[in-house]
Amino acid sequence: MKLKKRNLLQPSIGRTLVVCCLFLGIVVLAGCGSLPMRQSAAEVRPGVDYHSFSNPGAVRVEHVDLDLKADFQQKILTGTATLTVKRQQPDAKKLVLDTRDLSIESVEDVTAGGTAGAKPLKWRWGHSDTVLGRALEISLPKKTADAQAEKIRIRYHTTPQATGLQWLEKAQTASQSMPFLFSQNEAIHGRSWIPLQDTPQVRQTYHATIMVPTGMRVVMSAKTVTEKPQQGFFEFDMPQPIPSYLIALAAGDLKTGTLGPRSRVFAEKPYLKAAVNEFSDMEAMIQAGEKLYGPYRWDEYNLLILPPSFPFGGMENPRVSFITPTVLAGDKSLVSLIAHELAHSWSGNLVTNASWRDLWLNEGFTTYFESRITEAVYGADLANMQAVLQWQALEKELQELPPEAQVLARDLRGRDPDEAFTDVPYAKGRFFLERLEQAYGRSVFDTFLRKWFNSHAFQSATTEDFVEFVRNNLLGTQPPHRTGISMGEVKRWIYRPGMPHTFIKPASRSLYKVQQWRDAFVNHNLPAEKLPAKPWTTQEWLYFLNNLPATIGQERMAQLDKVWNLTQTHNSEIAHSWLLLAIKNHYQPAYDRLQDYLRHIGRRKLIVPLYKAMLEDPELRNQALAIYQQAKPGYHHLTRTSVENLIKSTAETTNSQK
Ligand code: BES
Ligand code: ZN
Repeated sequence: MKLKKRNLLQPSIGRTLVVCCLFLGIVVLAGCGSLPMRQSAAEVRPGVDYHSFSNPGAVRVEHVDLDLKADFQQKILTGTATLTVKRQQPDAKKLVLDTRDLSIESVEDVTAGGTAGAKPLKWRWGHSDTVLGRALEISLPKKTADAQAEKIRIRYHTTPQATGLQWLEKAQTASQSMPFLFSQNEAIHGRSWIPLQDTPQVRQTYHATIMVPTGMRVVMSAKTVTEKPQQGFFEFDMPQPIPSYLIALAAGDLKTGTLGPRSRVFAEKPYLKAAVNEFSDMEAMIQAGEKLYGPYRWDEYNLLILPPSFPFGGMENPRVSFITPTVLAGDKSLVSLIAHELAHSWSGNLVTNASWRDLWLNEGFTTYFESRITEAVYGADLANMQAVLQWQALEKELQELPPEAQVLARDLRGRDPDEAFTDVPYAKGRFFLERLEQAYGRSVFDTFLRKWFNSHAFQSATTEDFVEFVRNNLLGTQPPHRTGISMGEVKRWIYRPGMPHTFIKPASRSLYKVQQWRDAFVNHNLPAEKLPAKPWTTQEWLYFLNNLPATIGQERMAQLDKVWNLTQTHNSEIAHSWLLLAIKNHYQPAYDRLQDYLRHIGRRKLIVPLYKAMLEDPELRNQALAIYQQAKPGYHHLTRTSVENLIKSTAETTNSQK
């Protein structure tokens, strides 16, 4: 993306203006009669990141040098971040950074090098906002004519409530031998442990030295330069420029295993063997990705298995994806998640959404790409089943989301960008790309995507950049009557709620068969032992369970359980679908497992729907609250926020039902 002039209004002031303009806009438009497609006085400006206070248009961070010590007693990081910055405007007087809950000790100009050359700089707190954190404004020294890059050193420490870090006690880990620390920056949590220009529009290289208690291993989204576990010292270097949401750190009692010629897995001992087996197709996946969209550009691709409290399935930190242990199913049936995080090495990490409004460029492209890798390595049958499951989840979610949340390019002004991560950017984004693929054919579409990645490599892109790219490289190549697709349709996919009528629902032969068995079981009382489910894959089970009526009844639940032992399944996804049914049917024999599951796992996608179902049920609400109180200390901040929001929103509905 070419750098657009930034909105220099601080977001909170901006919001006040937006509200006024919106009001004026409504008045004006009401007088005009029909509403144009997406016009209003307060229209979103593509390419503006409304979730950062920083000023990269004036001064830009190019490199970050971290020197941090992890204090597990106090649960804080202490040390320095030295930023190499370049003025984009010669008369720029201040550098504005994003922070949240950081304690700043000093700011110095260290351009001259050495401690003697350090000159203190004036700084002050700027605007603050509950979602965005607090701006740190640093007065820059007068620019000398020859100064190219300048170096600013910030001495600081984090606070125990840093939203981007989770500190776990020994007892909360798998090996129970050492405490554990991990970061999760996306979307805007990097600012809670590094003072940064925390916007996906700024890319920086980084270098880091990290001190930890002896014996621990540190992993970062960078190349390891020095590792001295006995001295608790690690050094990293990241030569490729990345956005701040991809800077990542983890430390704990980590061992390593080999997955392939350019891949290792880091895991606590109890997970190591299982992980090496589960992810042994790593190299085949990387090669499938390269064959589709060009060389893997990050030298190595490793995995880090986190403790079960990790709030996501995976996070695409470059060179080392962070992965939940809940994908260790023992039969590789959940490894598409690895295909997903790997695919981000192109879509997201190489070509990055310019703002969180453009998130679908990261997640929709990646979900499409994930499916292509899955198909190449594991076959079309699995890829099709996953497409159907994804469509079912999206269809359900679309029934609940307000129209403004159903568009791909979602206006997130005044909202927490974490709210953007619904099935819409993922699944609707993916089905949009599939629609283009169907219209132009795979080979044309693959060439088109390769060109997109290559021409935007190491840059950020807006939704509108992509629309232009489609216009010039697809729509312009063939007349619409030959492909059946027009610019009008492209815009409908991106800017309109719901699914365009041209969308063709995905289908799977295998799941069609399961559908028939499900019908026989539900409508014709087929006994559970007559289901031919022995060879069913995880996806077939998920389809079967997800499509049972919510009120199948305790007797039929018991029959299924007796024959197929579902309460005891080791597969975290099947357990999730089963436990949801158990809640809806008040199937008590599964309650112990339910409690255990909720206490043990912190992955939002697996547990939030279970809490929701319990909280909405007056008979189970108190039990859910009690389990949450017990489990809460082990949950990540993001998981806590999700569950607590649910507790609040369901309180109103359960009260109003009384
Ligand atoms: N980038 C996301 C993780 C993420 C989600 C970060 C929300 C911040 C907020 C990652 O690539 C992802 O999509 N993970 C999915 C995996 C999946 C769709 C296969 C997840 O965690 O469930
Ligand atoms: Zn993703």
